[in-house]
Amino acid sequence: MKIFVKLILSLILTAIVAFIDFITGNELSFSIFYLIPVIYSSWYLGKRYGILLSVISAAAWLIIDTNGLNVSADHAIYFWNSLVRLGFFITVTFLIDKIKQLQDNQEEIIKIRTAELVKEAEEHEKSRNELILTSTKLRELNSKIESIKEEQNSNIAREIHDELGQSLTAINLELQWINKKYSGNEDIANRMQMLGEIVSNTIVKVRKISSDLRPRLLDQLGLFPAIESFLKEFSKRSGINLSYNLPSENVKFESTASIMIYRIIQEALTNISRHSGSNNAEVLISSNADMLTAKIKDFGRGFDRSKIISGAGTLGIIGMHERANIIKGTLEIISGNGSGTEVILKVPLK
Ligand SMILES: Nc1ncnc2c1ncn2[C@@H]1O[C@H](COP(=O)(O)OP(=O)(O)OP(=O)(O)O)[C@@H](O)[C@H]1O
Ligand SMILES: [Mg+2]
Repeated sequence: MKIFVKLILSLILTAIVAFIDFITGNELSFSIFYLIPVIYSSWYLGKRYGILLSVISAAAWLIIDTNGLNVSADHAIYFWNSLVRLGFFITVTFLIDKIKQLQDNQEEIIKIRTAELVKEAEEHEKSRNELILTSTKLRELNSKIESIKEEQNSNIAREIHDELGQSLTAINLELQWINKKYSGNEDIANRMQMLGEIVSNTIVKVRKISSDLRPRLLDQLGLFPAIESFLKEFSKRSGINLSYNLPSENVKFESTASIMIYRIIQEALTNISRHSGSNNAEVLISSNADMLTAKIKDFGRGFDRSKIISGAGTLGIIGMHERANIIKGTLEIISGNGSGTEVILKVPLK
């Protein structure tokens, strides 16, 4: 049906050109306009219809220019010209057909390539989704490992504190008793005093190990008092002037959240003392009903984050990010060479 309509259209076009050719007389050459239906049919209907229209066009031109073939034999030149035109029309038909074929091929290639690209994109999307799934699972696994690690730390800390600590205290009391009993013997008294000092130092060390594993204040008094105690201890140990501002009202945090926040602040401050070269640091913690914000800032040498993150063997910052992630918080590190470093932790409280 479509072919039929196009064929009719080609014939109408030929008829229009022939009519104009007829009314303008044979002095004006009209052959070029016959090309319109020839090209149209070659392009849309193919080579065979192109040749048909070429023949019709050449015949129409011949009939019109010879007043209905009303010419004598010495006007055979008309027939010769008509044949030349027919040859020209057919050549154009072949050329148009070739161009059309090339275009069709091109379109076919584009279609195949597009289909391949769509398939590649789908595969890419599939691997991307798998990667996202794997990294989500890894995150979940990491979060579980962290929680288990902290729980184990907490158990070991309790055991060390309760069992070892109490035994050492008992040894100390026993030593004091022996010391009293043999106070007359200078030798024994000196040995006992030495032993007493060793035991006392061991008690301090054991407490330190236990508190590093799990800060007891965290469970006894809550997050902010535990952080304050750590900040005081840190400042004393590192010699860094620390100014801090913590919320006066204690917020009740879930156990995982409080230890994660505590560890992040601990790592940020450890980094300040190890890397910043700064003598001053600031810790500002604020919280409202929705959000806890902690800013830990130094005024030291700073660092280029893009170089550090990709470096191997440094896990502190990665760990901070992971911990923030576990408690659905965000961690931002603002730093630049020579312009100090600021770690900003935000944790939603709902
Ligand atoms: N406050 C800071 N000032 C200057 N440089 C810092 C600071 N914090 C971190 N850096 C730089 O970033 C690097 C990475 O820190 P990160 O805490 O990840 O690892 P680390 O402290 O070197 O080792 P660890 O794995 O024991 O924490 C550090 O080696 C240091 O170069
Ligand atoms: Mg570190």
